[in-house]
Amino acid sequence: MTRRVAIFVSGGGSNMRALVEDMTGDHPARACVVVSNNENAGGIAWARARGIATEVVDHRPFGEDRASFEAALNAALDKHTPDLICLAGFMRVLTAGFVGPWQGRMLNIHPSLLPKYKGLNTHARALAAGDTEHGCSVHEVTALLDDGPILGQARLNVADGDTADTLAARVLVQEHRLYPAVLRRFVTGEHGCLNVNAE
Ligand code: GRF
Repeated sequence: MTRRVAIFVSGGGSNMRALVEDMTGDHPARACVVVSNNENAGGIAWARARGIATEVVDHRPFGEDRASFEAALNAALDKHTPDLICLAGFMRVLTAGFVGPWQGRMLNIHPSLLPKYKGLNTHARALAAGDTEHGCSVHEVTALLDDGPILGQARLNVADGDTADTLAARVLVQEHRLYPAVLRRFVTGEHGCLNVNAE
């Protein structure tokens, strides 16, 4: 049976696009909804133009009340009966109350070689540390930020003269390869870590 995937975005949604574009033909999953906390997210406009269902739940009216924000997210999700959630540049931290029921069915992509550099500014931190290797990771989401079993990593060499921006751009290319590859494996029950090296 085709698995239904909800994709969460806050921004441009280039990872979401890579996932959607891969879920065609004999792929065992399809995007059933794109969800955002930001009505102006580029990813929402792209999904609408493609005829994909969208849901926007603005976090701002909820202030510090994360439980109510997450209840609204769940209500929006329920309409689309997803089997899996893929976080793809979703910039709100989800609490244990939301994550718990989805654990094992929710993935995230993070722009570092986890467990290094959880959180923000990963590229600048890798450069500041003098790392010669950097990349991205897809992992199962748990209640701990950027934690959870690692399902795949793509690695690249840091080049002389790399800046946080040049590194981010090269890592993003790898994100677009890695996330669809991991999702394909995940929906067919392969949960081991996929390792890819940049070409
Ligand atoms: C990506 O680098 C992702 O790893 C990070 O946020 C960025 C989102 O980019 N969490 P996009 O919205 O998928 O283009």
